[in-house]
Amino acid sequence: MHHDPLLQPFKLKHLTLRNRLMMTSHEPAYPEDGMPKALYREYHAERARAGLGLTMTAGSAAVSRDSPPVFNNVLAYKDEVVPWLAELADACHEHGTAVMIQLTHLGRRTRWDKGDWLPALSASHQREVSHRAFPKMMEDWDIERVIKDYADAAERMKAAGLDGIELQAYGHLMDQFWSPLTNTLDAPYGGSLDNRLRFTMEVLAAIRQRVGEEFIVGIRYTGDEMLEGGLTPQDGMEISRRLKTSGMVDFLNVLRGHIDTDPGLTDVIPIQGMPSAPHLDFAGEIRREVDFPTFHGAKVQDVATARHAIASGKVDVIGMTRAHMADPHIVRKLVEGREDEIRPCVGANYCLDRIYQGGAAYCIHNAATGRETSMPHQHDTAEHKRRFVIVGAGAGGLEAARVAAERGHQVVVLEAAGDAGGQIRLTAQSERRREMMGIIDWRLARAKALGVEIHYNLWAEVEDVLAHAPDVVIIATGGFPADDQPAQGHELVVGSWDILSGHAKPGKKVLLYDEIGDHAALQAAEVIADSGAELEIMTPDRTFAADIMAMNLVPYMRALQRPNVTLTPTYRLASVNRDGDQLLASITSDYQPLDFHRHCDQVVVNYGITPTADLYFDLKALASNGGAVDHDRLIAGNPQTLDTNPDGRFQLFRIGDAVEPRNTHAAIYDALRLVKDL
Ligand SMILES: Cc1cc2nc3c(=O)[nH]c(=O)nc-3n(C[C@H](O)[C@H](O)[C@H](O)COP(=O)(O)O)c2cc1C
Ligand code: SF4
Repeated sequence: MHHDPLLQPFKLKHLTLRNRLMMTSHEPAYPEDGMPKALYREYHAERARAGLGLTMTAGSAAVSRDSPPVFNNVLAYKDEVVPWLAELADACHEHGTAVMIQLTHLGRRTRWDKGDWLPALSASHQREVSHRAFPKMMEDWDIERVIKDYADAAERMKAAGLDGIELQAYGHLMDQFWSPLTNTLDAPYGGSLDNRLRFTMEVLAAIRQRVGEEFIVGIRYTGDEMLEGGLTPQDGMEISRRLKTSGMVDFLNVLRGHIDTDPGLTDVIPIQGMPSAPHLDFAGEIRREVDFPTFHGAKVQDVATARHAIASGKVDVIGMTRAHMADPHIVRKLVEGREDEIRPCVGANYCLDRIYQGGAAYCIHNAATGRETSMPHQHDTAEHKRRFVIVGAGAGGLEAARVAAERGHQVVVLEAAGDAGGQIRLTAQSERRREMMGIIDWRLARAKALGVEIHYNLWAEVEDVLAHAPDVVIIATGGFPADDQPAQGHELVVGSWDILSGHAKPGKKVLLYDEIGDHAALQAAEVIADSGAELEIMTPDRTFAADIMAMNLVPYMRALQRPNVTLTPTYRLASVNRDGDQLLASITSDYQPLDFHRHCDQVVVNYGITPTADLYFDLKALASNGGAVDHDRLIAGNPQTLDTNPDGRFQLFRIGDAVEPRNTHAAIYDALRLVKDL
C-alpha cells in the first residue's frame, strides 16, 4: 500500500481513478486525416501501461465543420472517429487508465483557410490576434446548429466507450460567449452573465439529453481572464458555482489567463524560466469555495510540486502533461521508488511551439515521444555486447551513450572540454534557460548508473579512440561558430557565443547581425541589452528571430522591448571596417542594391555553426563501413550492416551537429534511432 498522496485513488461519480495524476488535454497533432490512428493510440497506451490515472485525449477535438483543424485536431464531427477512439480507449482501459476527450468549437481561434473554408464564428466580430480571422458574428441558426453538433459529438464519444468528456472554455467559442470582451450579441445570448452563459447551459442540456446522467461531463475553463474588461476572478467564482449548481457538470478543470495572444498563451502554459505552478493557488481557491471535484495543470513539472498540489487539498487531480511527454513512465517510476530516474521536462516548449507551426509535437529531449510506433521508450538488451567509443559529451553524444549502455554495451565517452553539455551548457549560462541543463544532467546520471566511463579534457585523436579497441565509434563532436564572414573585417567582429560565454564583454553601441534567428542570437541580444548598451539587431530575413517559435519568443520580447533596442529585418551586413576608434558597418540588402553605413563600437555576428568532424574523416579509412549509413535500414529500424572495408576494425557513425547543424532534438533523435538497433 502506497502512502504517496499522488498514488491515492479518486472517485469521480461511478468512476475510480487509480491515482491523482492526469495528462490534461493536449493535441499533439498526431491525427492522420483527422483520425486518432495507431500512433495516437500508442502514444496514450504507453502512458497507460506505466500507470497514469486519467488521460484526457485530443485537445480541442472539433465538434463542427466550421471549427477547422487549425493544429491537426481530431475531427469529432465525423462518425468514423468512433472506431478509432474505441481502439484507443480499449488500449488504455486494458491497463486501468481512464480515458476522456476534450471537445470544442474553436470559434474565432482558427483560420477560415483551413478545412472546408467555412467562415470562422464567434459571439462578436472581434478578431483573435493569434489566428487573425475576423469571425462572423453568430446568428440564431448558427447557435442552434453548433449546440446540436456538441450533442452529436458527445454521443459519438460515449459510443466509443470513453469515460467522459470535457468541454473547452478558455479562448474558444464557449468562453467567447462568456467574456464581455468577445460577446457583443444582444439578448438572449449577450448582455448579463446569465445571458452570456446561456449558450454553455444549452450545450450542456443538449449533451445531457443525449448521453444521460451517468456519463461524465466536465469543463476546462478560465476562471480569470487577467485582461482589462474581461472575466474577473469574481466572475470566475460565480461561473464555477453556476456550473456546479446546474447539476449538469461532474468536474471543473480550472485555468487562469487568456490565450488570444502568444504572450497570453505563454502565461497560461508557462515556458522554462517562468515560475512553477503559477495558477495552482487560484485553482485551489475555486476548489475551496465551490467544493467540487477540481482538476488543474500548468507547469507542474516535478512530482514534489504535484504531491504538494494533492496533499494540500488544493485540487483533486493534478495535470502533468508535458512532464509525461518528456517521461511517459512517471507513475511506474514513482511506484517502484525510482523517482530520481524520471526524465525531467525542461519547459523548452519545443512540443507546443511545433504544433503552432503545423508540425507534430515532439519533446526536445525524448525523441521516442510522438514516435511510439517506431521508437522505444525502453531498450532491449543487445544480442552481442560490444565496446562503444563515443566522442563528444553534448546532448547527442550522451544520448548515444545512454541508449548503448541501456542495451548492455560497454561505453566510453571522450570529451574535449572539462565538463559535459556542449552547446546546452552555453545556453544554460542564461539564468532563464538554466533548466536546459536537465537534458545533460539526467543523461549524466543515467550514464553513471549504467557504468559509462567518461574522460574529460581529452581532445581525441585517432590513437585515443583506437586505444579503447572499439567495435563501434560514434562521432558527436558538434560544431563551432562559423567565423568566415563577413568577407571583409571578420577579424573585427565577435561572435554570439563569445558574448554568451563571457569571453567578450558587450560594447556601448552594438550591432548584432543575425543570419540564423536562433537562441544563440537572442540570448546574446539579451545579455547585450541587459548591459544597458544601445543595441540594433539586424537580420537579412523577412522577420526577426525566424527560428524562434511563438512561445519561445515571448520571454525574449519581454527582455528586448526597451528603448535601447531596435530591430531591423531585411538588411544584410556586407563588411566591417575601422573608422578611428569606431567600427563602420556597411549594410546592403537582398531586395535592391543599397549601400549605407552604421557606426558602432562592436559588431556581434551570428552565422550559425560549422560541423567539427576532423576526427571522423581521420577514422573513415579504418572503419568497416567507411562511415556510411544505410538509410533504408535506419528508417526501417534495422541494425546497420554495411561492410565495405574488409580491413575495417569498427563501425563508424557521425551524429548531431557534427554532420549538419540542426537542433537539440535532431541530435538526440539521430542518436536514439541509430543506437537502438546497434
Ligand atoms: C502539444 C500540446 C498541445 C496542447 N493542446 C491543448 C488543447 O488542445 N486543449 C487544451 O485545453 N490544452 C492544450 N494544451 C495544454 C495542456 O493541456 C496543459 O494545460 C499545458 O501543457 C500545461 O500543463 P503542463 O505544464 O502539465 O504541461 C496543450 C499542451 C501541449 C504540450
Ligand atoms: S519539449 Fe520541453 S516542454 Fe515540451 S515536453 Fe519536452 S522538455 Fe517538456
